[in-house]
Amino acid sequence: MGADIGVYGLGTMGSALALNLAERGFAVAVSNREPEWIDPFLKEADGLDGAVSGHAELSDFVAAIQAPRTILFMIPSGKPMDAMIDAVRPLLAEGDTVIDGGNADFNATRARNDALDGTGVHFVGMGVSGGEEGARHGPSMMVGGSDHAWSQFRPMAEAIAAKFEGDPCVAHVGPDGAGHFVKTVHNGIEYADMQMIAEVYGVKRDLAGLAPAQIGAMFERWKTGRLSSYLIEIAADVLGAVDPETGKPMIDVIRDAAGQKGTGRWTVIEALKLGQSASAIEAAVGARGWSSEKEARVAAEAALSPGAQEYALPSEGDLEAAMLAGRILSHAQGFRVMTAASDAFDWSLDMARIAEIWRAGCIIRSALLDQFADAFRGALPQGHMILAPSMVALLEEALPGLRRVVAAASLAGQPMPALSAALAWHDSMAKGRGTADMIQGLRDRFGAHGFERVDQEGQHHGPWA
Ligand code: 6PG
Repeated sequence: MGADIGVYGLGTMGSALALNLAERGFAVAVSNREPEWIDPFLKEADGLDGAVSGHAELSDFVAAIQAPRTILFMIPSGKPMDAMIDAVRPLLAEGDTVIDGGNADFNATRARNDALDGTGVHFVGMGVSGGEEGARHGPSMMVGGSDHAWSQFRPMAEAIAAKFEGDPCVAHVGPDGAGHFVKTVHNGIEYADMQMIAEVYGVKRDLAGLAPAQIGAMFERWKTGRLSSYLIEIAADVLGAVDPETGKPMIDVIRDAAGQKGTGRWTVIEALKLGQSASAIEAAVGARGWSSEKEARVAAEAALSPGAQEYALPSEGDLEAAMLAGRILSHAQGFRVMTAASDAFDWSLDMARIAEIWRAGCIIRSALLDQFADAFRGALPQGHMILAPSMVALLEEALPGLRRVVAAASLAGQPMPALSAALAWHDSMAKGRGTADMIQGLRDRFGAHGFERVDQEGQHHGPWA
């Protein structure tokens, strides 16, 4: 009997998933580009329920897996993945499945899927969230690919996934690039949530003048409330930590320049291509970009005067409300982008199920996701999550706080890109008559682009000379 699954790539995520599979009793064949990584991995896997075998040669690795084969690749996305498909393809047979479990651009996943279409080999693009800890003990997984591939992989995926009240946090969300798209949007929402947490921290640090541990205590209080979530939990940890080298709060020795690998940016690019704007996510991506211009910001602080005005320091309750409203609005934007993609690519994405598989295991897991799933299962006017009755009620309660926080930040000259973008989106959506009549008038005035009238059918032009 061959192995149930092959895992290629023994980096952090690959080895954690392989150990998770072995722990659940699956027989796992492993391989790695650098063969010297295999033995240490086998030592680590020793004693787990599933038999684990290591193979330095790709052909031996493939031969060790029971047909029809399921092979999970946990390698860098992009060129390495294409090279790997080329290398493994001749060794595979009809019905075998290749899974790319990395953070890949869904456009590349669709192209790889097309390239393998008709060869009998199935390609799956799978988003895996939860970091090393999640991969080892229960990630959230978003699977895109054929029904055949899913039926092969499903028992293993459900066994290793995080569970929310017994429900495995994994789903076959759609065909070809759907899984990687959903993971990309997950990461976009992750960017927005982290940026909003950082903005709230900024108010407490810069306007209230609190020490990190005091701000950490606020996040600690929020852990069990309406904002209960993994990111709020670890915000409390980050603010409570002390640098062993200097004895200072850890946060105070971390340079304020954020890195990014691209998934947040992809969300924004794809949103714009689909005629959407996930503005809170966009603000978060942009803020990371600005953060890396550290020297320019230091020079600008000395050169520019913000014209700050008198403001009322936001209360903890208002900050909590702002974070709650911001979180709802940024998720709603993410779901809106997924709806647009689902329509454009004919994916039939089930938003309620996506919210459900994010309830545990992934980085954005939060108490709100259960409510988002319920919102999508109920009547949803215009298909917009913010119009679900439960969300209307939550937003009504939280909006005054968000508004006061954004207003205070604006008066104080305290940057709040994501929370203010979320509020601007809310206010734009909540206005039946917007100001695009002016845009249309201007377009027609300078370029005869035409406009629709409110009282007649067809395209019209204004009486400009
Ligand atoms: C997850 C994370 C994970 C990773 C991101 C971080 O869901 O487990 O999103 O995929 O941490 O790639 O991305 P940045 O480096 O761009 O912040």
